[in-house]
Amino acid sequence: MSFRFVRTGLAVLMAALSWHAGAQDFPNRTITMVMPYAAGGPGDTITRVFAGAMQKHLGQQIVVDNTAGASGSIGTAKVARSKPDGYTLLMIHVSHATNTAMYKSLPYHPVDDFEPIGRATSGPMLIATRNDFPAKNLQEFVAYVKANGPKVSLAHAGVGSASHLCGLMMMNALNVKLNEIPYKGTGPALTDLLGGQVDVLCDQTSGTVPSVKTGKIKAMASAGKTRLPQLPEVPAISEAGVEGFEINISFGLYAPKGTPKPEMDKLISALQKSVSDPDVRQRLEAMGISAVSVDLARPEALRAHLKNEIDTLGGLLVKAGVKAN
Ligand code: MLT
Repeated sequence: MSFRFVRTGLAVLMAALSWHAGAQDFPNRTITMVMPYAAGGPGDTITRVFAGAMQKHLGQQIVVDNTAGASGSIGTAKVARSKPDGYTLLMIHVSHATNTAMYKSLPYHPVDDFEPIGRATSGPMLIATRNDFPAKNLQEFVAYVKANGPKVSLAHAGVGSASHLCGLMMMNALNVKLNEIPYKGTGPALTDLLGGQVDVLCDQTSGTVPSVKTGKIKAMASAGKTRLPQLPEVPAISEAGVEGFEINISFGLYAPKGTPKPEMDKLISALQKSVSDPDVRQRLEAMGISAVSVDLARPEALRAHLKNEIDTLGGLLVKAGVKAN
């Protein structure tokens, strides 16, 4: 047996042993969960709830990194480029699907560059206005935006974001064109709505419901067919005779492509324990959001959900002629 042969064999054995040890003690340092929208928004709130729950189940700290901008694509690219070792994760919603239709060139592929871990949440959206907006209810809101069109400002979190999709659907349904004001997330958009700098925001309920309850902004309608249990006095937009307008936003967790199976298995298990954690469920429910069932907190469910959103919502934006660059 030659010396070279023995040396190569030993190197292979050492690499296999260190890979095995690495997988076995994963995680042994802080995990980063990237939220590609600004702090203070629904994505940020949801990510922090899951970071807290998953760190309990993984026994390691999880920090949230808000790398916001370009409709979530900057933070998403950061995760795609990171080492696939389970220590950098991405929590993202519909913009993972719509950005493929929005941007001529993205520095990542939403399917090929990621390992889906599982779905985390599902939640409705709410059309809200600044507190001193002239309309007091849904009927007055519809009449006012129709009469004033682009004089009314519509805040959103950038093309392809949930709030942008909701705003587009609302404008289509009411046949109006409002003045769109993009932000890096609905955290800063909500701050401006609270301050009265913008008129309307259609946002996920995690930010809007608490602000409506404390009387800081006004709710005009839930963006769908049914009222929200948290705000039963607020009508659904369908009650104004608006058809075909229903939007529900789901967040999911991804790792970079190539993350080894043992690490993936631990992350999937921690996500599944988190979606069934009573504390997580209760905290989300108070904001009008649901943690998904364990059955949906798995890679196949997130993969199928992403594919469906790429086909339906990405297609809808292409048809509407919306482009980011
Ligand atoms: C955010 O967290 O800021 C939102 O998820 C943005 C959006 O998509 O509307």
